[in-house]
Amino acid sequence: MIDDLVAAVDDRSARGIAAAVNRLIGSGRLSPGDRLPTVRALARALGTSPTTVSEAWQSLARVGAIESRGRNGTVVLGPAPAPGTTRRYRRVTQGPGRAPLDLSTGTPDPGLLPDLRPALGRVSRDRFTTGYTDDPVLPALGELLRDRWPFEPEALTVVDGALDALDRVAGAIVRLGDRVLVENPTFPPLLDLLDLLGAEVVPLELDEHGIVPASLRRGLALEPAALFLQPRAQNPTGVSMTAARAATLARMLRDTDLWVIEDDHSGAVAEAPVVSLGSHRPGHTVHILGFAKSHGPDLRLAAIGGAAGPVGAVVERRLIGPGWSSRLLQGVLADLLTDPASVAAVDRARAAYADRRRRLADGLTERAVATTGSDGLNLWIEVERERDALVALAAQGIAVAPGSPFLAGPLPADHVRLTSGLVRDGFDDLADHLADAAAPTPTRWGRTL
Ligand SMILES: Cc1ncc(COP(=O)(O)O)c(C=O)c1O
Repeated sequence: MIDDLVAAVDDRSARGIAAAVNRLIGSGRLSPGDRLPTVRALARALGTSPTTVSEAWQSLARVGAIESRGRNGTVVLGPAPAPGTTRRYRRVTQGPGRAPLDLSTGTPDPGLLPDLRPALGRVSRDRFTTGYTDDPVLPALGELLRDRWPFEPEALTVVDGALDALDRVAGAIVRLGDRVLVENPTFPPLLDLLDLLGAEVVPLELDEHGIVPASLRRGLALEPAALFLQPRAQNPTGVSMTAARAATLARMLRDTDLWVIEDDHSGAVAEAPVVSLGSHRPGHTVHILGFAKSHGPDLRLAAIGGAAGPVGAVVERRLIGPGWSSRLLQGVLADLLTDPASVAAVDRARAAYADRRRRLADGLTERAVATTGSDGLNLWIEVERERDALVALAAQGIAVAPGSPFLAGPLPADHVRLTSGLVRDGFDDLADHLADAAAPTPTRWGRTL
C-alpha cells in the first residue's frame, strides 16, 4: 500500500498528496474500508514532513473521502465528493416550512421586475437560430456588458446565473487542498461548492466598508490560491465595499498571484456604485455580474469578465457541455438593458428595495435590535439564539433564513437573514415581532444590551 501511494504521488505538497490519494480512490485502487498508512510512515517514505501529510489527510477528510478513527488509524470512505454536498444551501432553502410571510428566500419581489412582454415581442427568433460555432456571447449584449464593466476585461462570457458563474470559475481555479479566502459570513452555496472541491476555507472579517485589511493580511500568510468576495450588497450582511477599501486591499495583493473572484450578484438593484479590485489587478480578477435580482431569476443569465486564463477555461469547458447560454434570452436581456421603460423599472426597484430596507432597519434600531444591511435585498439581524428566533417567528407566520449556514467561521453572536426586499407593508408589526424573536427573554424592554 505505502509503495502504491509513493508511486502515485508526483507532487509532494499537501495538495499533491491529497490529489494522488483521491485519484487512487476514484480509480478503485483504494476501496472503502482500506486503512491508510500512518502520517509518520508516509511522510518518511515520501521524504516530506508529517505536517504536509497531515494537511493532505485533513483536506481529504473534509470532503468525506477518508476518516480518522483515532487509534484504529485512517480509513478510506469512498470517492470525494461526499454525500450532502448542498447541505448549507438546503438548510436555507428548505426553511421551517411554508409560512404566510416567507422572508427567507433572498429573492427579488416579482412585482418589481421589468415587464418581459415587450422585450419578448421584439426579439426575433431568426437572429438566434444559428449556433454551435458562434461566439457564446450575443454581440449586442457583449457590447453593453463591456460598456458597464468596472474595468477592461481581457475576456468576457455569459453563463446561466451568478451561481453557475461561481461554480465554473471555482472549478477552473480551485484545486483539492487549496486554501481559499472568503468573507465571513457569506453565501452558503459558495461554501458548499468549495467543500465539494476539497478547498480549505479561510474566513475573513467584514466591517461596513468591506473585508477588514488586517484579516486579509492574516489570510495571505497562509498562501491561499483565491479570494471570493461580493463587492456590493453582500449576502447576507448588505455591506458594499468602498473604493478606498478596494484600493487598500489591492495594494496588499500587489505582489501576490492570488485570484480574486468578485460576485456582483445584485448588480443594478444595489445602491452603491460597483467597485472592483479588477481596476487595480485586471490580470488577476474575475468579476461576475448577475441579472437575476435586477431583471428576473428565470432569465438565468450572468456575465463573467476579467482575466483571460480562467474566463477562457470556463468557455473551453463549456464547449463540451451546454456550449452557450440561450442567445434568445441574451437578446431579451440586451433589450431590457436599453429599453427606457425597463431601465426605469429597474431604477424604481432599486429605490423600493432601499426604502423597504431602511424602514425595517430603522424600526429594528428603534427597538434596540442590532442589524447590518446598508445595501441590497437583505438584513442580517443579530439574535440571542438562532433556533429560538426561528421558532418564535414561525409562530407568527414569518419565515426567515437561519444565520448559521452562512458562516465560514465563528461569529460572536447568532443571526438570522431576512429579505427586506419582499416586505411591502406592515413594517412596525414586523419590527415588533423581530424584536421579540431577537431577545425572547424576559421582554425586549427589560433586557440588557
Ligand atoms: C451572493 C450571491 N451569489 C450568487 C447568487 C445566485 O445568483 P443567480 O440567481 O444569478 O444564480 C445569489 C443569489 O441569491 C447570491 O446571493
